[in-house]
Amino acid sequence: MKKIFYFFWLFVSLTVYTQEKKAGDEALGSRKYDDFEKPGVCGSSCHIDFYQQWKQAMMSQAYTHHWDEIEYFKLAVPHAEKDPKVAGVKAGCNGCHSPIAFLAGDVPPPKPEANSRANESVSCDVCHTITGFKGDIPYNFNYISEPGKTKYGNREGAVSPAHKTVYSQFHKTAELCGTCHNEKSPYDVWVKSTHLEWKEGPYSKEGVKCQDCHMTFAKGSNASMGPELPDVAQHLFHGAHDPGKVRGVVELRIHPDIREVEPGEKVKFTCAIFNQKTGHKFPTGSAEERLLWLHVEAKDSKGKTYHLKVDKKGFAGEEYTIATNTLAYQDMGIPLNIPDFKGIQRDGVPEGDRIFRLPYLDPQGRMTIMQWNTASHGVDYRIGPRETKIETFTWTIPGDIAPGNLTVRATMYYQKLPGPVAEFLGVPMEEAEPIEVNFHETTINIVK
Ligand code: HEC
Ligand code: HEC
Ligand code: HEC
Ligand code: HEC
Repeated sequence: MKKIFYFFWLFVSLTVYTQEKKAGDEALGSRKYDDFEKPGVCGSSCHIDFYQQWKQAMMSQAYTHHWDEIEYFKLAVPHAEKDPKVAGVKAGCNGCHSPIAFLAGDVPPPKPEANSRANESVSCDVCHTITGFKGDIPYNFNYISEPGKTKYGNREGAVSPAHKTVYSQFHKTAELCGTCHNEKSPYDVWVKSTHLEWKEGPYSKEGVKCQDCHMTFAKGSNASMGPELPDVAQHLFHGAHDPGKVRGVVELRIHPDIREVEPGEKVKFTCAIFNQKTGHKFPTGSAEERLLWLHVEAKDSKGKTYHLKVDKKGFAGEEYTIATNTLAYQDMGIPLNIPDFKGIQRDGVPEGDRIFRLPYLDPQGRMTIMQWNTASHGVDYRIGPRETKIETFTWTIPGDIAPGNLTVRATMYYQKLPGPVAEFLGVPMEEAEPIEVNFHETTINIVK
C-alpha cells in the first residue's frame, strides 16, 4: 500500500514539475488564455502610466503591427506549410510576438482584425508571470511562464490589493529580455542576438542593462496609490520605431588629407564613425531588414553636387556592404507561389554607399529577409557598442568644378526596411522611411 502511494506521489510530483518547467517549444498549448490577466485590467485604475507607456510601445503591437501581420501571414505561415524544415515557425513566431496565443496553443491565431486576445501581444501579464528561463542561454522564448494570482517584479516588499507580489531578481536582468531578443533559426543560426551582443560588449561588464536604456528609472510611484519611490522602471521600450532614439546613435567626423586642390588632383576624405549610444550592435535585432548607410556628397561653390563612393577595403564578403542594384530575396517566391522568382532590388539606396549590415543568407546562399530561412550569414559589418569604424573616400576632382569652397557632407541614414521590399509586399511606406542619424561637414578649397 505504502509503495503504491509512493509511486502515486512520485507520478504527481513529476507531472507538476514538468508542467511548471515547460519552456520554449514544449510550452505550446500548456496554458489557456484565461490564465492571463488582460492588460486593460492592470491599466484601468492602478498602473495607468505604465499602461499608457506600454500602449505606445511596439511591445503592445508585436502581433498587430501591419508589417508583423504581413510577414507572418503572407510569408511565414505559407512557408511553414510548404517546407517541413521551417514548419515550427507557424507556432513559434508567436512564442515572442503573442506569447499568450502561443501558450494557449492557438495556431495560427485569428488575424488582428478579429480583435482576439492574441492582439494583446507582449502584455503586462506575459512579463510579470515569468519566473526564469530553461537552459543556459536565453533564446527562442525559453522563458518559464507561471500565470496566476502571483505577479513577479523588481520591487522588494511591494504590496498590492489586486494580486500577490513576489520579488524577482530575474526581472532586473538582461536575460529576461534575452528570452525573446535572441533567436535561432531552424538551421541553428543566430538570427537575433541583441542580448548576446550586449553580453560580449562593454556595457554588460559595467552592469548597464537593457532596462537602463529602454526602461529608464525615474522618481515617482509604480501604481496610482503607491508611495513615492526614487527609481521607478518606466515602461518605454523605445527602440528602432522611435526616431528620437535612433537620432545621434553614431557621431561622424570627416576630414580631408589636403585643404587646397586643383582639378585632376586626388583628395582623400576620412570619416570616423563612433557608436556612442547602443548597448549592442547597431543595427541589432531584426538585422535582416535594417539598413544603416553612409552617404557622402560634395557641393561646389556654384551649388553643383557630386556623389562620392566609398573606398573598397577588400575584406571577404564586402560586396554586401556596398550599395548596388543587384536583385535579392528570391526565397520569398516560395511562400508567395512565384516559381523562379527573380527577386527584387537588394538595397534601394544610392550605389556605392557603405552599408553597415549583417547579411542573412538562405540555404542557397542568397540574401533573405525571412530570418527563419537563414542557413548562414555573410560578413558582420555592423557597428559594435562604443566601436569606431573608419571609412575613406578617394576622389579625383572633376575638371568642370567651380573654384572656391567645396563642402563635403557625410550623412548617416537608417531605415527599418528596404524600400523595394516594403513596396513589393505592400507594407506601409512609413516603415521604409529613412531617418537621418547624424551628419558632419568639412570644407576644402578648389584652386584653378
Ligand atoms: C515575451 C517576449 C519579449 C520579452 C520578454 C521582451 N521583449 Fe522586447 N520585444 C518583443 C517583441 C516581439 C518585439 C517586437 C515588436 C515588433 O516590432 O513587432 C519587442 C520589441 C522591443 C523593442 C523595440 C521597439 C522598437 O521601437 O523597435 C525594445 C527596445 C524592446 N523590445 C526591449 C525589451 C527589453 C528591454 C526587455 C527586457 C526588459 C524586453 N524587450 C523583453 C518581445 C519581448
Ligand atoms: C547603453 C544603452 C543601451 C543598452 C544597454 C541597450 N540598448 Fe537597446 N538600443 C539602444 C539604442 C540607442 C537603440 C536605438 C538604435 C537601434 O535601433 O539600434 C536601441 C535599440 C534597440 C532595439 C531595436 C532594434 C531594432 O532594430 O528593432 C531593441 C530590440 C533593443 N535595443 C533591445 C535591447 C536589449 C534586449 C538590451 C539588453 C540585452 C539592450 N537593448 C541594451 C540603447 C541601448
Ligand atoms: C517586456 C516585459 C514587460 C512588460 C510587457 C511589462 N513589464 Fe512591468 N516590468 C518589467 C521589468 C523588467 C520590470 C523591472 C525593471 C527593473 O527593475 O530593472 C518591470 C517593473 C514593473 C513594475 C514595478 C516598477 C517599479 O520600479 O517599482 C510594475 C508595477 C509593472 N512593471 C507593471 C507593469 C504593467 C502594468 C504592465 C503592462 C501595462 C507591464 N508592467 C508590462 C517588464 C515588463
Ligand atoms: C525569439 C523571439 C522571436 C521569434 C521566435 C520571432 N520574433 Fe519577430 N521579433 C522579435 C523581436 C524581439 C523583434 C523586435 C526587435 C528587434 O528588431 O530585435 C522582432 C521583430 C520582428 C519584425 C519587425 C518588426 C518591425 O516593425 O520592423 C517582424 C516583421 C517579425 N519580427 C516577424 C516575425 C515572424 C514572422 C516570426 C516567425 C517566423 C518571428 N518574428 C519570430 C522576436 C521574435
